[in-house]
Amino acid sequence: MSAPEDAAFDPSSYDDSLYDDASYDATARVVDPRGDDDERRVEAALRPKRLSEFPGQPRVSDQLALVLEAARRRGTPPDHVLLSGPPGLGKTSLAMIIAAELEQPIRITSGPAIQHAGDLAAILSSLAEGEVLFLDEIHRMARPAEEMLYLAMEDFRVDVVVGKGPGATAIPLELPPFTVVGATTRAGLLPAPLRDRFGFTGHLDYYTSTDLATILTRNATLLDVEATRQGIEEIAGRSRGTPRIANRLLRRVRDYAQVHGTGVVDLPASHAALELFDVDARGLDRLDRGVLEALCRRFGGGPVGLSTLAVAVGEEPDTVETVAEPYLVREGYMLRTPRGRAAAPAAWEHLGLTPPVSAGTSAQPLPFDEGEGRFSP
Ligand SMILES: Nc1ncnc2c1ncn2[C@@H]1O[C@H](COP(=O)(O)OP(=O)(O)OP(=O)(O)O)[C@@H](O)[C@H]1O
Ligand SMILES: [Mg+2]
Repeated sequence: MSAPEDAAFDPSSYDDSLYDDASYDATARVVDPRGDDDERRVEAALRPKRLSEFPGQPRVSDQLALVLEAARRRGTPPDHVLLSGPPGLGKTSLAMIIAAELEQPIRITSGPAIQHAGDLAAILSSLAEGEVLFLDEIHRMARPAEEMLYLAMEDFRVDVVVGKGPGATAIPLELPPFTVVGATTRAGLLPAPLRDRFGFTGHLDYYTSTDLATILTRNATLLDVEATRQGIEEIAGRSRGTPRIANRLLRRVRDYAQVHGTGVVDLPASHAALELFDVDARGLDRLDRGVLEALCRRFGGGPVGLSTLAVAVGEEPDTVETVAEPYLVREGYMLRTPRGRAAAPAAWEHLGLTPPVSAGTSAQPLPFDEGEGRFSP
């Protein structure tokens, strides 16, 4: 990205023609280890465009509707919004929706893309009044950029450093009011001063099967696939409460139905396809089951430290912690204890194993702090 001084003095150099249309989907520009290009294209096509088309998350939806409506009536940009929650629950979708509802363009970037304060200065200094700045994976932003962001969010001001070494001067630059929408899977990693700059925090939770069935029904229509209610309900019940997974499974069941079945997403096709793709009766996938297997078989039910557990399943600790763990804890298979992760009785039962007499008895779960988006000791 260009040096801050360039950006400050020539904001027009920033090409924002791509962002004129609020429905423009820039996830295609964000590196996402979870999906290939094709998947991202389909995701973009299936993304709800307005709040009224966004099923589930009733609390966050209602709160957000109020914040946006109030801002619209005042004719000023709303407070900055932080969206937190596990992957695939709709944070990026909601960010796009916020811009669409405000009828404002959206500028999209992500924490890992902002490694220098200058990167952020270049973006901030070229924002238009009212524009929405979406910062995905905001917890992965470099520290100096974070500090620049506090100031910009609070005072709509950024200090642009001109020159280098002892002769460098900081020139304050006024910014037009804008709205930051931050998204994170790890709200607990955000420094408190940054978290405090967000006037509204929405914590997204796993979806109910009913909400997932609504989403799937709509998406089957969008994908032009015929589906029965039972077929849809089967997929919904096995999607780990996650729309991204539901959409992915829908496409795999469709593939199966087209190759082996009648072309209709029905119960037999759903059963067979979900089995083929290693999704078990409770919706747990390979990683989930790997974690539970390791906990029970290798560590006798735990407690065991996160990194040891991650090594045992051949994954990064971060993946185990943000992808598998929240759902396993939520569904009562796994406990987070002060001494590490432990298997709950449901885990043994699910794997068809008999727990040792002492297993899990000393393990007390930690309470989940919704505001922090993590377990508090
Ligand atoms: N409420 C919803 N209704 C319909 N589809 C949804 C909903 N929430 C999410 N989706 C779909 O799920 C997919 C993933 O959503 P999205 O990209 O917004 O998740 P995310 O929370 O940003 O995930 P990540 O943390 O991995 O970035 C998208 O294809 C989107 O269409
Ligand atoms: Mg996202």
